[in-house]
Amino acid sequence: MSVSSSGSRALAARVGRRAATAARSAYYGTGYRVRYPGKKSVEDRLHRWETATGRGDVPLSQTMWDEQYGRGRWSFLSGIEEMAHYAVIVGYATFLKPDSSVLDVGCGAGVLHERFSVVGYRRYTGVDISQVAVESLQDTAPPHASFHAFDAATFTPEGRYDVIVFNESITYFADPLAVFARYQQFLSPGGIVIVSCHVQSPRARAILRRLERENAVIDATDITQGRTSWRCVAFGDQAR
Ligand SMILES: C[S@@+](CC[C@H](N)C(=O)[O-])C[C@H]1O[C@@H](n2cnc3c(N)ncnc32)[C@H](O)[C@@H]1O
Repeated sequence: MSVSSSGSRALAARVGRRAATAARSAYYGTGYRVRYPGKKSVEDRLHRWETATGRGDVPLSQTMWDEQYGRGRWSFLSGIEEMAHYAVIVGYATFLKPDSSVLDVGCGAGVLHERFSVVGYRRYTGVDISQVAVESLQDTAPPHASFHAFDAATFTPEGRYDVIVFNESITYFADPLAVFARYQQFLSPGGIVIVSCHVQSPRARAILRRLERENAVIDATDITQGRTSWRCVAFGDQAR
């Protein structure tokens, strides 16, 4: 009897998890794109559930990011399997804004900075919530680069930038659309914002759709390398 009741509890939990996952996908497919009364409280509850159940690209605390960097969870980003989306970001930046000042929001352990170092930049600032991710960068930064351990939702950089990049980072903010809008004020006139996202997640796809609908898109590239796909979008400095 105890076996069958624990079996049915496990089955109910599995069905519940599947239903919640399907509801989340449906929500990002439709509800996320529209405005309705009580939207904030619905999304706050959704993010609490996503965070509690570790649903991938959702906000995490600094402690959790530090722990992940400490155990090498993100080391794979410097491998050849991830080469394509970094190359497209650097390609957009150098094509549209050669020799630019670059602000890398959610810079992690500096993989994008390494890729930019090959082509050059005028000034480079990285900000990441994880102290563990940026500490070695802080010790070794070249003269025109600096790296800050700070929550980018409230970070205020010095000056303005020609290129602001959110590389695999925008989905980790509680309110990605507000963070994107906030960083527009740190763009130089004619500057660009580049957002790259791994698009396997419904949250990432919904965020990109909203950003592309509400902002001026210069160009976008869909990237597939191996079994993984990303979308990389270059935005202009004016909201539509
Ligand atoms: C998937 S990793 C990508 C890292 C980096 N862009 C790269 O390509 O190597 C996401 C990064 O976003 C950072 N991040 C998440 N929330 C953040 C926040 N509120 N402020 C600043 N950085 C944040 C994480 O610490 C992490 O380094």
